[in-house]
Order: sequence, then C-alpha cells, then structure tokens
Amino acid sequence: MQRIVVLTGAGVSAESGLGTFRDKDGLWTRYDLSKVATPEGFAADPALVHDFYNARRANALDAAPNAAHDALARLEREFSGDVLIVTQNVDDLHERAGSGNVIHMHGALTGALCAGCGHRWPAPRVMDHKAGCPACTAPATRPDIVWFGEVPYQMDKIQEAVFAADLFVSIGTSGEVYPAAGFVDLADAAGVETLEINLEPTPRPDLFDRVIKGPATQTVPAWVAEILG
Ligand code: OAD
Repeated sequence: MQRIVVLTGAGVSAESGLGTFRDKDGLWTRYDLSKVATPEGFAADPALVHDFYNARRANALDAAPNAAHDALARLEREFSGDVLIVTQNVDDLHERAGSGNVIHMHGALTGALCAGCGHRWPAPRVMDHKAGCPACTAPATRPDIVWFGEVPYQMDKIQEAVFAADLFVSIGTSGEVYPAAGFVDLADAAGVETLEINLEPTPRPDLFDRVIKGPATQTVPAWVAEILG
C-alpha cells in the first residue's frame, strides 16, 4: 500500500470540544444554516455571519488537537507512502498536531477573503464586517469559508488523489454533505479499498469495505498502529 487519502469531518474534532453540526445539540440544531452559512445569508446580515464565525474561531483557537489528530500526524510521519488529509473542518487542529499534507476543502477560520476582489489574508481573531480589504479597501471582508451553494476548494486535486489511492478512509463525517459524501462512491468505482471510522452508523455504511465504530480518540490511534505494524 502506497497512497492513503483520509477524509475528516467534525467528529474528529468533537473530543477537542468543538461542536459537530448534525448530532444532538449540533450547531445546525441551534443556528439557521441558511442565515450563517450561505452567500445570501452573508449579503443579508454580514454582522450576524461574522459573529457566528468569530465564535467558531475563538473556540477553535482555544482548543487543542486530540489523540485522533495526533495519530493522523504520526501516520504521515511514519508511513512509507503518501498520506493526504482532506478535511471538511475549518479548524486548524490537523496542522497543529503536525500534519503537513492537508486540504481544507471547506476553507479555514484562519483565513480572510475579500468578497470584492478575491484577495486572501490571515484572519484576525475577531473579524469586523466593516473592515476594508487590505488590497482593494472594499468593505467586503468575509471568512475564507466555503458556504452552501459555493464550490469546495481543490476539487480536481482531491478527486485525482481519491482515484489514485490504495485506501480511502472517512473519519467522523456524517456523509450528508456533497461533494465530500460522494468521495466513497468515487473510491468504490475506482476499486480503492474503503474504511469508515465513526462513533455511530452513518446512512450508507454498506458502501465501505470495512467499518470501525467508536470515538475517534480511541479508534484512530488503534487503526494507525495497525497500519504502521
Ligand atoms: P456532521 O455534524 O454532519 O457529522 C459529524 C459526524 O461525526 C457524525 O457522523 C457523528 O457520528 C461523528 N462523530 C461525532 N463524535 C465523534 C467522535 N468522538 N468520534 C468519531 N466520530 C464522531 O459533521 P460533518 O460530516 O463534518 O459544512 O459535516 C459536513 C459539513 O456540514 C461541514 O463541513 C459543514 C457542515 O454544514 C459547511 O459549513 C459548508
């Protein structure tokens, strides 16, 4: 085995104290997704959207990587082949655990983006919707997050990597949000071995060759130890 692609979701950061979206008490049970995670919501009330992501950013900056993030960083360090992490998470806990080969397909809380000119820069801890873009001065600063109705980042690179992988592993994601939820279909069609690691059964567990059930901080280190022999 030479190439492993790992897709992660909110479940990998849950035990770092960051909320998931669709579990009981998940973020989307408390916030209206259409108001805080769509371009239309941002156009209607940018201050509300910045408040939402400022709170997410504060939580993420105050959180620490857990044993699952650490184990994935160990996998990248010690595995003889390539390990790519494709994360739907907007926190930077994979990087802070030491993973270097990470694609943030839904963007990152650490980034700011000008909705006017497309300029990107590091986000301050608290973003202000009235602040001007450092490049074009337009008061159009937004978090560098991919919202519903927008195209996730680096899709070509991700699809090529999944297609060329020997093993595709989906960790802590509900499989409810496309295109990420469809990567397992792509892997399956390409004859790539597939593994799901999750606390709960997901809607389509039969799509995976193997399923490991349990909290990520226990299951991921055990699986990494198995791979590294
Ligand atoms: P969800 O909240 O939809 O799903 C979280 C998954 O993590 C569920 O399947 C849980 O069973 C699992 N889980 C919870 N705690 C766990 C633990 N300790 N160990 C292992 N698994 C655990 O979150 P995502 O699938 O990441 O997008 O959501 C996908 C996207 O929907 C997000 O990136 C976000 C959201 O709306 C945008 O905002 C664009």
